[in-house]
Amino acid sequence: MNLFGRDFLKLLDYTPEEILYLIDLAAELKEKKKNGVLTDVLRGRNIALIFEKTSTRTRCAFEVAAHDLGMGSTYLNPNDSQIGKKESIADTARVLAGMFDGIEYRGFDQEIVETIAKYSKVPVWNGLTNEFHPTQMLADALTIKEHFGKLSGIHLVYMGDARYNTGNSLMVLCAKLGMHFTAVSNKKYFPSEELVKTCQEIAVQTGAVIDFSEDPLEGTKGADVIYTDIWVSMGEPDEVWEERIKDLEPYRVTMDIMNNAGEKCVFMHCLPSFHDLNTGIGKDIKNKYGLDEMEVTDEVFESDRSIVFEEAENRMHTIKAVMYATLKEA
Ligand code: CP
Ligand code: NVA
Repeated sequence: MNLFGRDFLKLLDYTPEEILYLIDLAAELKEKKKNGVLTDVLRGRNIALIFEKTSTRTRCAFEVAAHDLGMGSTYLNPNDSQIGKKESIADTARVLAGMFDGIEYRGFDQEIVETIAKYSKVPVWNGLTNEFHPTQMLADALTIKEHFGKLSGIHLVYMGDARYNTGNSLMVLCAKLGMHFTAVSNKKYFPSEELVKTCQEIAVQTGAVIDFSEDPLEGTKGADVIYTDIWVSMGEPDEVWEERIKDLEPYRVTMDIMNNAGEKCVFMHCLPSFHDLNTGIGKDIKNKYGLDEMEVTDEVFESDRSIVFEEAENRMHTIKAVMYATLKEA
């Protein structure tokens, strides 16, 4: 498999074989790291990390992975660079591509990261846009594979806002890898018809199943994985909280939902999560709307059915695999 020089902008651009290759490569790099085997094969290279939205996992994963591979990294945000104020994204891409060997972008429209890729002569990696979060998907797939020993045939249920980056990307992941994806939500929050159609076409080739339910009990029955994300994403206005809470409260992941799914079912979340409403914005929401629980109960999040921290660690190993595969000459 040769992915040298490729961008990593969305899973739709990758074949199932290429996605599985990246997951296996990540597992191999993880094993090496655990055994203290160095993988600094990209010594002397440098990467740029553009973050127009905040991050803990993705930024740290790129930085640690880059350093493990022997590379230097530079973090840029709109507050202390010219990005988005004095310089177009096309010019930024050409400037950075002249100095760096790869560029990560986290921000708003998918079109922006596609534009950076168009103007950049070095690989560009999507660290989250409004529409897609492809590096998260590799970590999720690796975590599921580690837990269940396989991906094909696994039934993943996504509860909550399924028409945003994480929900959209999970549907694509499941379609590509022959998994069963069910979005369980108020139908206002189902992915766009266009993306559903694309995924259904892929599913015909891969044996995947894509379906939808507005019934939390019926929709989660027999699930292997129940996955959720915060109800209001980065960049969305505060005004949407009220409607979101009203629409999505029936789709909170509770222990009853986990038990309804079955004993083998595990809980996943890309994080950050509002399972603890006593911190930061969570506290404001709790006070304003009188909510005690948000997208997932603390009980589920802290239970032994929750594999969220394994999933978070896998962000680093999978991002390392993407950089390794796209920057290392075969
Ligand atoms: N899951 C994820 O992308 O987390 P960060 O926002 O912390 O990067
Ligand atoms: N949907 C979330 C994902 C965070 C990793 C957001 O865009 O804020």
